[in-house]
Amino acid sequence: MSEAPVAEAKPPRRQRVMSGIRVTGPLHIGNYWGALSNFVKLQNEGTYDCFFGAMDWHGMTTAYKSTVDVAPWTRDMIAEFIAWGLDPEKSTLFVQSRVPEHIELFMILANLTPMGWLERVTTWKDAEEEAKANDTHNLGRFGYPVLQTADILIYRGEKVPIGKDQTAHLEISREIIRRFNHIYKAKLPEPTPLFTDVPVLPGLDGRKMSKSYGNTMLLTPDEKTLKKNVNMMVTDPQRVRREDPGNPEVCSVYGYHKLYSTAEDLSWVEQGCRTAGIGCGDCKAKLFSNIDALTKEPREKKKELLNNPKLLDSIIDAGCEKARKEAQKTLGIIRSCMKWST
Ligand code: TRP
Ligand code: SF4
Repeated sequence: MSEAPVAEAKPPRRQRVMSGIRVTGPLHIGNYWGALSNFVKLQNEGTYDCFFGAMDWHGMTTAYKSTVDVAPWTRDMIAEFIAWGLDPEKSTLFVQSRVPEHIELFMILANLTPMGWLERVTTWKDAEEEAKANDTHNLGRFGYPVLQTADILIYRGEKVPIGKDQTAHLEISREIIRRFNHIYKAKLPEPTPLFTDVPVLPGLDGRKMSKSYGNTMLLTPDEKTLKKNVNMMVTDPQRVRREDPGNPEVCSVYGYHKLYSTAEDLSWVEQGCRTAGIGCGDCKAKLFSNIDALTKEPREKKKELLNNPKLLDSIIDAGCEKARKEAQKTLGIIRSCMKWST
């Protein structure tokens, strides 16, 4: 059989990757291991067409009383994205609220999402009492998974890198999109997850790391904060005196060494701790210098962007414009499926 003429051989369309991070403050290392590091990896594989957003509407569902922080946090997030390796030339980096089509699609999808589906989502069900107590038992928060579905669908995202904790949300997204396809005889892609294995991260105080405990480690801390954080870390409580041998497995300093230090340094800690060969001060100093070295380049890159608001603005503007073009295209397809083109 003869081969197809070269002129017809179109390059295969690249699969779409879409994801984002909710804007709630400066990124911590949980955001990095759970999301950003994977975004960078997927971008650099070069086989995907990537869209990554700073999700400020999702931040608003809980931050609506202190909205003044949301814009600076959003800029900080985009600077952080770039500092840690997302490239605005390779990926489309956008701010959710700057692409109003998300909200238009949200409203369309809201009509075809049964309340029961949302009521069953564990992130809603299990947090209802807490939400009532802190005044976030609201429609925006209830509709969180619908907006998230609109985020994905507006770019016709096919692969969604998320942490395992987002499984239920993505399942709802698939159901809503399936329902859309069924009602309007459309063929929009049902997204599938690309799970990120998130290590259990130690909090600075030895408990599990959680924003609500206030024990998180920032992704790009300045030197002073880093010093403070390392000093805050709790060591093996049994190791009272310098000459007492310790157990690194119960020490949060060691937990952080596992994230930031080389195998060689790890065995130095292991050995030294168990034999009282090193003191906790030495151990913390080593950790400080390892984190400091690893975060130096991104820290400088981030600072450069934040100190040059014109440059950052132009990057954000260009990303949002690129995103908007695609979102408008999708909305056109969606309205024509619905026969609702006025
Ligand atoms: N819910 C995600 C988070 O907690 C953020 C998010 C919003 C998102 N929209 C999305 C993730 C769409 C993936 C796809 O950070
Ligand atoms: Fe923790 Fe290091 Fe002290 Fe051991 S030496 S208890 S690992 S800080």
